[in-house]
Amino acid sequence: MSVTKALTVRQATMKDVDAMLEIVNEYARQGLMLPRTKLSVCEHLQSFIVAHDGETVVGVAGLHILWEDLAEIRSLAIAERAKGMGVGKHLVLHLVEQCRVLGINRVLALTYQKEFFEKCGFWIVAKESLPQKVWKDCINCSKLPMCDEIAMIFETA
Ligand SMILES: CC(C)(COP(=O)(O)OP(=O)(O)OC[C@H]1O[C@@H](n2cnc3c(N)ncnc32)[C@H](O)[C@@H]1OP(=O)(O)O)[C@@H](O)C(=O)NCCC(=O)NCCS
Repeated sequence: MSVTKALTVRQATMKDVDAMLEIVNEYARQGLMLPRTKLSVCEHLQSFIVAHDGETVVGVAGLHILWEDLAEIRSLAIAERAKGMGVGKHLVLHLVEQCRVLGINRVLALTYQKEFFEKCGFWIVAKESLPQKVWKDCINCSKLPMCDEIAMIFETA
């Protein structure tokens, strides 16, 4: 199935924050992604985009710049009712294009969703090949001692 005609992808605004938190934290409760606080979403609002179906926010994704040639996709989540319609891919490709415009060569995802990211043009890389800075925010994660997320990269250039 493909994205509905009414779907728009745009910069997130303060009005979207509660809906963004609801989508992300539902998956966080299931252990599929890290939770987000309202403060952290507000503080990093400029780095988030949302997908809107004309009535409500149905997807969210953030871009965190790690270094001059590396940015990470974070908090990618699609509302249950909108999954499998191309919304996730749309958001990822939007962030990839943002990286291209910003002159950032590599886009990183740390994920359990290998097949989805492969469909978006990412491939697996060894975690050891990534700079230390990538792991800075992992210190507060309960999964740190045995993190089983896969590192995947898209090259924009
Ligand atoms: C993973 C997630 C973002 C995918 O978003 P989505 O909108 O459902 O995916 P799309 O419809 O854009 O799928 C794009 C392609 O990936 C495939 N795909 C999506 N999820 C998949 C999965 N779990 N396994 C295999 N393939 C998958 C689709 O079939 C589609 O293939 P196609 O291009 O050949 O038609 C969404 O399911 C989600 O929010 N999951 C829970 C939170 C999560 O795990 N986030 C990722 C954190 S890194």
